[in-house]
Amino acid sequence: AHKSKVTVVGSGNWGSVAARLLASNTLRLSSFHDEVRMWVYEETLPSGEKLTDVINRSNENVKYLPGIKLGNNVVADPDLENAVKDANMLVFVTPHQFMEGICKSLVGKIKGDVEAISLIKGMEVKMEGPCMISTLISQQLGTNCCVLMGANIANEIAVEKFSEATVGYRGNRQIAEKWVQLFSTPYFIVTAVQDVEGVELCGTLKNVVALAAGFVDGLEMGNNTKAAIMRIGLREMKAFSKLLFSTVKDTTFFESCGVADLITTCLGGRNRKVAEAFAKNGGKRSFDELEAEMLQGQKLQGVSTAREVYEVLSHRGWLELFPLFASVHEICIGHLPPSAIVEHSERTPRSS
Ligand code: NAD
Ligand code: 13P
Repeated sequence: AHKSKVTVVGSGNWGSVAARLLASNTLRLSSFHDEVRMWVYEETLPSGEKLTDVINRSNENVKYLPGIKLGNNVVADPDLENAVKDANMLVFVTPHQFMEGICKSLVGKIKGDVEAISLIKGMEVKMEGPCMISTLISQQLGTNCCVLMGANIANEIAVEKFSEATVGYRGNRQIAEKWVQLFSTPYFIVTAVQDVEGVELCGTLKNVVALAAGFVDGLEMGNNTKAAIMRIGLREMKAFSKLLFSTVKDTTFFESCGVADLITTCLGGRNRKVAEAFAKNGGKRSFDELEAEMLQGQKLQGVSTAREVYEVLSHRGWLELFPLFASVHEICIGHLPPSAIVEHSERTPRSS
């Protein structure tokens, strides 16, 4: 029978862990080719070597996931067109800001019967309004596109600590089951729900709440305050998602992609960590500067997502309905001090 070929587009911290996870399953499952191809945005390391060459020689992404073997069936490829040309199953996992450019260069380069999934937490805001990354992929490439989100700090999954994840799908349950099969391991439990928008918005919006939680940590306001911010944030996540897409289900917020991802990101994520440093410095050092210094090339998604959400809120006249989301952006751009996070977020309307 026809075997599916898997390509991962992206090779950052989560991209590398995703490739490792998939590669352990393609070896095991007879319906997939063993090889997992991983597109690498090429860069030259301080040693003068190309990152791709080092990955293929050492089987390790020494820059974004040092110390972890990816599996011998992971092949790094710096040529995007070549990496996707034979793939039947495309896994997108880059920082969201690069996806528009990547999609443009992929138009006409992929096979006709490709299935896609996005692990990317973020959105784009266009003249017509917000556009989720899975929508960008399916519109530009003409493919179906599922999403996979969850409480998934990559470094923990790299060492096979137990976690759960959620696949969001639109109509086709069979395709969703194929993705579940391809990602599931005894330490990575995947559940499919028919709510692409809800799942993707959970993953996207929790990064904004994580910044708020980081501000609270930086100001040493304590656990009760942080829990209050997470509660208000979760409520804004739900209200915003439902205003954008009336089909979003309440139950989605109780899946791994919802409350669980919110908790793990507010405890141990990069957005939290850099926001804590931002608040400690009284907002005097920019997020760009702190990101470059603290994350060694990894990228934050929350700061640009806060801006994108703010654009939607101001366009639609919803700013007053979402005081936490709005104040996170205003703090990020220096219009409010980090300490404003609590008093401003507490302005949340009590009803709903
Ligand atoms: P990362 O933060 O490690 O980002 C760095 C990657 O971006 C590198 O592969 C780098 O080569 C690439 N890059 C830099 N400039 C580029 C350019 N101009 N064009 C294309 N690529 C470029 O990446 P990540 O952690 O794999 O995150 C990808 C997505 O996965 C994000 O949306 C993130 O929110 C999500 N995610 C991350 C984690 C995690 O724990 N890291 C967990 C779940 C979801
Ligand atoms: P950070 O990007 O804040 O590290 O969040 C990681 C994540 O999405 C965990 O599920």
